[in-house]
Amino acid sequence: MEKIFLTGITGLVGSAFVVALLRERQDYEIVCLARKTAVKSAQQRTEEIIRDECKFDGCPELADRILKSVKVIEGDVTTIDPEELAKNPLLSGTTIIFHCAADVNLGKDPTGRTYRINYNGTVNMVKLAQLLKVKEFHYVGTAYIAGKLVGTAFENMPIDNGFNNPYEESKFKAEMLVRNSGIPFTIYRPAIITGRRSDGRIRKPLAFYRILEFLGKLKSHYCTKHKIDHTGWANLQINFAAVPSEHVYFVPIDYVQEAITALFQQPVNNQAYHITGESPLSTHQIENSICRVLRLDGTTVNGGPVAETMDNKLMARFLGDLFPYFSSDIIFDQSNVRKALGDKILDWEYGQKGLETLIRSFYKDYFPNVEWLQTLANAPLDREPHC
Ligand SMILES: NC(=O)c1ccc[n+]([C@@H]2O[C@H](COP(=O)([O-])OP(=O)(O)OC[C@H]3O[C@@H](n4cnc5c(N)ncnc54)[C@H](OP(=O)(O)O)[C@@H]3O)[C@@H](O)[C@H]2O)c1
Repeated sequence: MEKIFLTGITGLVGSAFVVALLRERQDYEIVCLARKTAVKSAQQRTEEIIRDECKFDGCPELADRILKSVKVIEGDVTTIDPEELAKNPLLSGTTIIFHCAADVNLGKDPTGRTYRINYNGTVNMVKLAQLLKVKEFHYVGTAYIAGKLVGTAFENMPIDNGFNNPYEESKFKAEMLVRNSGIPFTIYRPAIITGRRSDGRIRKPLAFYRILEFLGKLKSHYCTKHKIDHTGWANLQINFAAVPSEHVYFVPIDYVQEAITALFQQPVNNQAYHITGESPLSTHQIENSICRVLRLDGTTVNGGPVAETMDNKLMARFLGDLFPYFSSDIIFDQSNVRKALGDKILDWEYGQKGLETLIRSFYKDYFPNVEWLQTLANAPLDREPHC
């Protein structure tokens, strides 16, 4: 039996990994660090999320068995005392650390919270790993430590290219800590995680999904203001202030789950892996798909000066932190993934159809009581949007 100490179990990636691993393997025991909330203990939250994830993964009957292999320590990566934690009897015999917890806020970090969680949290986890003398450190980073790079990002050679936000910088520095820890490591670097390939669904919509929520609300306000049918076409006249890119790496959560779980079980060899796939979308494809589903005309994407309308200002305020990811011209090299897992795992792409499916799924799952959105989420394609 191997014992893993894991952070981030309540998150999108951590829960997907734990369920996939324990579904396949019964020779792992997982002790996780989880936070409590005002109303729920860390134990309760973990249990609920594992059950939810099992349901999402189509194996609700496995939840009890999986939960038997999961123990919970309540705590926060920024405030744990590694010396004290190392003495916790639950951690005795830990051989592997899987550090997945992070603050995924892509905006400004005025209080330093993102940096503290991502960097100082990793300092604590590395210290703990050294005290426990674990044989492997697994770290979930991000492909976007490549920051402002234009060109190919290689898996094994992270360099500081300048960053778009404190998140990227904190994750870059945290990855460096892991690399320099002296402990054998594996680093997983996902891109923008989106819905699964089969039906576009996601258990926890982050980042990109804010755009869908925002545009849904914007259309609703527009239609109410102009007294027009919400399910018809609306000419919003808005501009995404992003230089359009051909390399927007949306990566399905089930691919992230499958790839990380498979790589985790490979010998640890100080490698990093881009969990991005190799079939990026273009900004135009994404914009077009959203507009097709929501029936929006007058939406454009360009990096030039943007009309100073109230809607454009609102967009920049609420979504501005996401724009760099729709302008990014990075190509994520796949050599290590290909070498470890073969070509076949990379044989997928969303394409326009998959993209529309994931957009529709989001509205179906997260706005079940908004009738007009339900109608559009289920409606066939009407026509192409006019710019
Ligand atoms: N989602 C993406 O598109 C994406 C893309 C690239 C890389 N990643 C990386 O993937 C990893 C997992 O992210 P995710 O997508 O699963 O995000 P998530 O759903 O927001 O999960 C983040 C996890 O970290 C935990 N956490 C945050 N702050 C913590 C703290 N101070 N102490 C203890 N735990 C803390 C959260 O616990 P609570 O539930 O208590 O908040 C949660 O379990 C991160 O390292 C992230 O950088 C994610």
